[in-house]
Amino acid sequence: MAPAWTEIAVIAPVEWLELVAETLSLGPCSSVAFGRPSLATPEPPPGLEWVRAYVIETEDTPALRAEIEAALGALGERTGASELANLSVRFRRLPPEDYATSWRKSWKPMRVADFAIVPRDWKGTLRAGDRRLVLEPGGAFGTGRHPTTRGCLRAISRLVRPGERVLDAGCGNGVLAVAAALCGASHALGFDIDPSAIPYADELAEWNGVRARCEFRTGTFECLRTEERGFDGVLANIFADLIQAHAEDMASRLRPGGWFAFSGCLDKKRYPTVAAIEEAGLVIDTLHTRGQWDTFVGHRP
Ligand SMILES: C[S@@+](CC[C@H](N)C(=O)[O-])C[C@H]1O[C@@H](n2cnc3c(N)ncnc32)[C@H](O)[C@@H]1O
Repeated sequence: MAPAWTEIAVIAPVEWLELVAETLSLGPCSSVAFGRPSLATPEPPPGLEWVRAYVIETEDTPALRAEIEAALGALGERTGASELANLSVRFRRLPPEDYATSWRKSWKPMRVADFAIVPRDWKGTLRAGDRRLVLEPGGAFGTGRHPTTRGCLRAISRLVRPGERVLDAGCGNGVLAVAAALCGASHALGFDIDPSAIPYADELAEWNGVRARCEFRTGTFECLRTEERGFDGVLANIFADLIQAHAEDMASRLRPGGWFAFSGCLDKKRYPTVAAIEEAGLVIDTLHTRGQWDTFVGHRP
């Protein structure tokens, strides 16, 4: 019997989406998504956006709901922002569905730069020059379709050279590290604060035949050893606040002349993020914006 899930949804001001997303990622709540829950849901008013998290039915307890409501209720006071004072949260039981396989109904192979992103059992023919990247959505993790992931995949396809060592901060399902390995990286090291991400990342590396060249760790920046430096490339598809907070650390891990691709930054946070990247001694060569998401690509002089 497929498990049922509860959707936890909030309409929040666009400039506070990251903080609200972080607030919803409590305990057993899985990774957060942005946007309308379904096409039948009306668009929120201008300046507002849906933030959604999911929790498996057995973990959806009154105590968890109270904890989420209290955390959201405290945001106004925590930030001093009156627009966060009265956020309301909607809990909705989703009909039981085998989410592990139901994605197949709507999943279509996709092309990003020279990556052809396909499910494991895909029997189609690739174009000459395509790199096959096997990806299957698992649990709460990405489908490779988010503009921030696509922005990083484009950079990887352009920048990774055979034999390079690449760091992937906030690796999630490992798609970026695996893509780097498919482009010839000799070692791609990813880490993620969410321990449930790492088995997916290991499996993804296995499916793509690059397990021996990928290493995934649970943790945040502190899980990197001091001597782990001199990377040829650093990828970070995480929130703007984290890019700002860790720009210096990421810059110091990069060899001179090495490249970086940072994404996950809402365009509203562009200027403080650019300032933090430049203050860390990095040069931004290109800024790609898709929808409201920025991807910064550049190098360490
Ligand atoms: C937007 S997802 C990116 C996933 C994947 N790299 C991609 O491009 O599709 C951001 C990831 O960063 C992780 N993350 C958030 N805060 C983190 C932190 N402080 N340290 C490490 N990982 C973090 C989240 O768990 C999530 O998996």
